[in-house]
Amino acid sequence: MSASPTQPAHLVVEATGVGKVFGGGDGKVEALRSIDLAIEPREFISLIGPSGCGKSTLLRLVGDLTNPTSGTLRVNGKDPHQARLDRDYGMVFQKATLLDWRTVAKNVELPLEIMDVAARQERAREMLQLVQLGEFAGHYPWQLSGGMQQRVAIARALAFRPSLLLMDEPFGALDEMTRELMQQEVLRIWRETHTTVIFVTHSIPEAVFLSTRVVVMSPRPGRISDVITTGLAHPRNEDTRESRDYYDKITEVREALRRQERGAG
Ligand SMILES: Nc1ncnc2c1ncn2[C@@H]1O[C@H](COP(=O)(O)OP(=O)(O)OP(=O)(O)O)[C@@H](O)[C@H]1O
Ligand SMILES: [Mg+2]
Repeated sequence: MSASPTQPAHLVVEATGVGKVFGGGDGKVEALRSIDLAIEPREFISLIGPSGCGKSTLLRLVGDLTNPTSGTLRVNGKDPHQARLDRDYGMVFQKATLLDWRTVAKNVELPLEIMDVAARQERAREMLQLVQLGEFAGHYPWQLSGGMQQRVAIARALAFRPSLLLMDEPFGALDEMTRELMQQEVLRIWRETHTTVIFVTHSIPEAVFLSTRVVVMSPRPGRISDVITTGLAHPRNEDTRESRDYYDKITEVREALRRQERGAG
């Protein structure tokens, strides 16, 4: 299929008028309405908005875990289902969902089990080094801290070298210090692997610190109300967190969210 002139083929995600309605009759829930979003390769996009505004639903639509009820959605120029078959994306959720009876290395190898043994062991080792857990390959998940478990989940998600990494509140359960460390880790991995990331968060500072653009969503039915370019220099580090530009962007995103809350009232 050829892309139309207004829809460049190089986009990683291209949503046009995407809507999602769950159920029917009295139980009908309109989760998303008229979502237009174009994501370029190597962007880091955060989705932020009030609980229930459809952030996870949007991520799940992109990841082919559910289907839109209206509009069109393309991932790397393809139907999301085809993108999933082509292993174009990796996913990380709030809970690491590791298998307790498999070692760390065996967990990372899990999605690779259709590959030949040598390649998948090698790849798992490489991914664990990337998340700086090389020494823990033989440990079991229950022997690791929450932050380490989440790094294993990231290694597993990256095992297929996805072009798109989908992360749904991956650091939500971590303490503040671990969370800040993980934010820097994920930015380092993002730079080293050249992946595009879509990241759902409730934390305004986290969204600003990580992202190239912050997508602010309105309450149900979820719509995109603002798209804020952060424009902060890379690499981002502790100095970034103390900078005036960072502070100003946090204020800008907070004000955009407040407008949503007022609109909802
Ligand atoms: N499988 C489903 N069946 C029916 N309704 C659903 C389903 N999944 C989500 N919803 C509804 O769609 C709306 C959006 O849910 P979603 O989980 O995407 O919100 P969210 O922005 O991720 O919220 P949170 O910040 O609390 O995680 C909610 O009203 C939710 O109840
Ligand atoms: Mg959610």
